[in-house]
Amino acid sequence: MLKLTSTALDRIKTDALIIPVCSDWSLYESSPAASLTKQALQISTFGGDKDEEVTLHQLTGLEAKRIVFMGLGQLADLTVESFRQAAGKAIRLVQQSTPGDAVLAVPEIQAGDNLNREAILAAMAEGALLSNHCHNRYQSDPKRQALKSIRLHTDAALARKSRSILKDIQAVGRGTLQARDWINQPANEKTPDQLARQMAQTARRQGVKATILDEKKLAGLKMGALLAVGRGSAHPPRILILDHRPAKAAGTVALIGKGITFDAGGLNMKPTGSIELMKIDMAGAAAVAGSIIALAERGVRRRIVGVIPLAENMVSGDAFRPGDIVRACNGRTIEIGNTDAEGRLILADALAYTAKTYRPQIMIDMATLTGACVVALGESIAGLFASDDALRNLIEKAGEEVHERCWPMPLPEDYEGLLKSELADMRNIGPHRWGGAIVAALFLKRFAGETRWAHIDIAGPAHHKKGGPYAQPGATGFGVRLLCRTIQALENVGL
Ligand code: BES
Ligand code: MN
Ligand code: ZN
Repeated sequence: MLKLTSTALDRIKTDALIIPVCSDWSLYESSPAASLTKQALQISTFGGDKDEEVTLHQLTGLEAKRIVFMGLGQLADLTVESFRQAAGKAIRLVQQSTPGDAVLAVPEIQAGDNLNREAILAAMAEGALLSNHCHNRYQSDPKRQALKSIRLHTDAALARKSRSILKDIQAVGRGTLQARDWINQPANEKTPDQLARQMAQTARRQGVKATILDEKKLAGLKMGALLAVGRGSAHPPRILILDHRPAKAAGTVALIGKGITFDAGGLNMKPTGSIELMKIDMAGAAAVAGSIIALAERGVRRRIVGVIPLAENMVSGDAFRPGDIVRACNGRTIEIGNTDAEGRLILADALAYTAKTYRPQIMIDMATLTGACVVALGESIAGLFASDDALRNLIEKAGEEVHERCWPMPLPEDYEGLLKSELADMRNIGPHRWGGAIVAALFLKRFAGETRWAHIDIAGPAHHKKGGPYAQPGATGFGVRLLCRTIQALENVGL
């Protein structure tokens, strides 16, 4: 979908030429971009400040139908994220008028010491790609449509140099958009079995081996926690296993994603105001599937196993109840304190099964696990828990780089007592609501066992009601870029 072009700017035929503008620095040295920027800055309502934008139509001497100038703000404040956002916003702006195509003019001069032109090109490409995706599948008369083509304009030398990074961005971008589609899809079209099949089919197209375990298999594996959560639904649970297994793989990383296709809360049912959005409770699953598909496309040399437990948390005469005691596949018994704390139950079985079956060097789970994490960190930052500092630091840094931010959270030993049960090995909730994200993470830790493990709570950033600079309202696909960058970083440092 993204292409590179080195045709002279004034000869490019396009519906919209997009030029980023700094308020105190020129990003272009040659004509016509440099003179166009000057011209734009002379307009009284435009100063190149952040989020300012101005559009000029049918300028003489240019083939482009219109020019969109996107303000970036001052040079000293610029980061890669500034360019990602500017490109994203510009694409959203252009989509509002007749859907056609756009060309982004990549700066000719680097923006400060740490922002070289290749990094800027990559950021603009990513922002544009992620922004150019509309959830209009269910609309008879869509208001917004994706652009048919987006090109990045740069000189031939940088274009040549950027080809491989652009490929990476497209693979990871497609994974992110795929994850968004799955999350936005309504729950009546993604029962555990349906979603498992959809994900399996998409993964197989990328050469990933996909296996679906049905309820009989799960019973054979003694996954009492996962089966309990799915009991109240007419649509029984599944586990989807995605296995990217290159020849001579250096080691194994396992990714585990919470896949609750709808979280009604079970008998502890969610009230109006909390229940409406709960089709997104499989965002962890979507992020894991999306990243494995992207990693396979990129040809990562490590074995990556995705283990995705899928269930629907509903109510019925046969639903599991508060007070029930269930047994996870590792033999541990769990007293149910609240049926709405279901994510940790399905992850418990998935983590224990993964550790035992695949013996990975590292396990990372991703889940829309707790409202408490949203209270702590808000809607844009994920909670990050890990069994060791090195893994936590690596994931935190990866998150900064792709701007899918993760904040380190503790796993205090003296909080373990909060999970104590009088009757079983543990309870699935604590005695009060304080520290809810931490209590949930401590619960998961017990099922990760000795395996190096990290847990990322994405209940906040999985979804944005209003959308962001490069995401339409709805699912964000948060986690795909983070996991892909994390795996890449693990490769680089040999962890
Ligand atoms: N799926 C929810 C968490 C959630 C909340 C995700 C908001 C996205 C947005 C999870 O299963 C849940 O219900 N957690 C409970 C745990 C409680 C019962 C201990 C919560 O956070 O209230
Ligand atoms: Mn719940
Ligand atoms: Zn849930």
